[in-house]
Amino acid sequence: MSYYVTTPIYYVNSTPHIGHAYTTIAADILARHHRQRGEEVFFLTGVDEHGSNVARVAAEQGLEPKEYADRIAVVWKELPRRLNATNDFFIRTTDTGHKGFVQGFLQRMYDAEDVYQDVYAGWYCVGCEAFKTEAELVDGKCPIHETTPDWIEEKNWFFRLSAYQGRLLELYDSRPDFVLPGFRYNEARSFIAGGLQDFSISRAGQPWGVPIPWDPEQVAYVWADALVNYLSALTYARSGEDLRSRFWPAVRHLLGKDILRFHCVYWPAMLLSAGYEVPHQLFVHGYLLLDDRKISKTLGNVIDPLDLIDAYGADPVRFWSARAVSFGQDGIASIDGLHERYERELANDLGNLLSRTTAMIARYLEGDLPARSRDASPVRTLIADLGGDVAARLDEYDITGALERIWEAVRGLNRHVEVQAPWRLAEDESRRLELEETLYDLADGLRAVAVALASYLPEASSQILAALGADPGEIGWDGVDYGLTPARTGIAAASPLFPRIDTPTAAA
Ligand code: MSP
Repeated sequence: MSYYVTTPIYYVNSTPHIGHAYTTIAADILARHHRQRGEEVFFLTGVDEHGSNVARVAAEQGLEPKEYADRIAVVWKELPRRLNATNDFFIRTTDTGHKGFVQGFLQRMYDAEDVYQDVYAGWYCVGCEAFKTEAELVDGKCPIHETTPDWIEEKNWFFRLSAYQGRLLELYDSRPDFVLPGFRYNEARSFIAGGLQDFSISRAGQPWGVPIPWDPEQVAYVWADALVNYLSALTYARSGEDLRSRFWPAVRHLLGKDILRFHCVYWPAMLLSAGYEVPHQLFVHGYLLLDDRKISKTLGNVIDPLDLIDAYGADPVRFWSARAVSFGQDGIASIDGLHERYERELANDLGNLLSRTTAMIARYLEGDLPARSRDASPVRTLIADLGGDVAARLDEYDITGALERIWEAVRGLNRHVEVQAPWRLAEDESRRLELEETLYDLADGLRAVAVALASYLPEASSQILAALGADPGEIGWDGVDYGLTPARTGIAAASPLFPRIDTPTAAA
């Protein structure tokens, strides 16, 4: 089974903020999870370096666009690394391999007679990198960026999107899960049903971009260039290998609701025109809100995700972004919320469970845990459906629900400690077997939970496994089951998984 997951490629006109980290974290959780299931995974992220936005910021800094892009790409490459994301490739749209592929792709659309020349005049919002109709403007301004768009009048190459209305509707009707969640599917489908307008795929009079092969005076419109990254990367990410046969069309695109039309309407039509299969699925998530507004670079309302990682570590930031807001919906983010979850859920629920379990094994059993799995164990019941439930939720991109399901098990194990009270069992020599069974159940339940958590909390998960004497690399999904821990020796009290952090570090 092949599983290919992508994030949007991010504009390099500024540095990363928590909204970008959000999609990258979600994609990484899915990529890691599917690797745990033994699937062949490819995870792509990267940056979108062309477009007026980037050219403008470079000019403001007195740099050539490429010089500017080279400098800032370094910062963007840090984002997945610091988030502990396991992307298999990092694409830059200035890569030679990408630019050449885009030219070939546009040429195929041209050869299919889907491209024609026309004069266009309209309001162009540089922030959106898109033309806006009068009706979309509020007091003459782009409602998203709160800026006055530029009036642009130029001769461009147009893609006959209107000719694809029927085929797109057929596609949507035959694949009701093409776009998820369902309300986003409806949004995309009604946009198509409402009638499609051709769009310009080129820009005149600006040198920054990929030259149009049949008219090198013009460059590709930034979206006609950027969307193609999902395919181009497969042709040059591994030298001498064309990954398209393995990973296309097994692709799952993750994207924010702001770029739904480009992905759910323009992109499948462009693929059909160029003679490619459409993606397997698109998942559209909501905005992460801060103080009731979209976190956006243009509004200057930004949390630097790298600062958050400095303060809390990658695992807590991953945990919080998966858990704080139901993935797919909009939600409010706050640093206080991150701090609170760190203390209550990570340090107490999970961290203390490990500390107590290992300390009790060290103290009451001298570190030697006999194999004591049994049919009637309540922990067996607690863990039995965990693997299936979590996998089923992640198959529906329910990253938040899957994590809550794992947390139910964590809370269940904590209740088990309280109910069984091993410290009392340890006082009574005649209850030795019960003590061993209880500590076995806790250790084994915690091991299963650690495997289930490996895609969310990769560092903590391997620390838990190591503390329990298990192999931290053994995270195959069939390990999310009860009773797989063999007899262990030498278990010592583990050091705290999530040490105290004094004050919330508000980086906003
Ligand atoms: N370059 C285009 C995408 C091209 S993809 C072929 C672009 N870039 S962007 O830098 O503006 O990033 C957009 C994506 O970043 C969103 O779709 C979303 O995935 C993520 N987010 C940016 N801000 C966000 C929030 N405030 N909340 C959640 N995600 C957001 O558009």
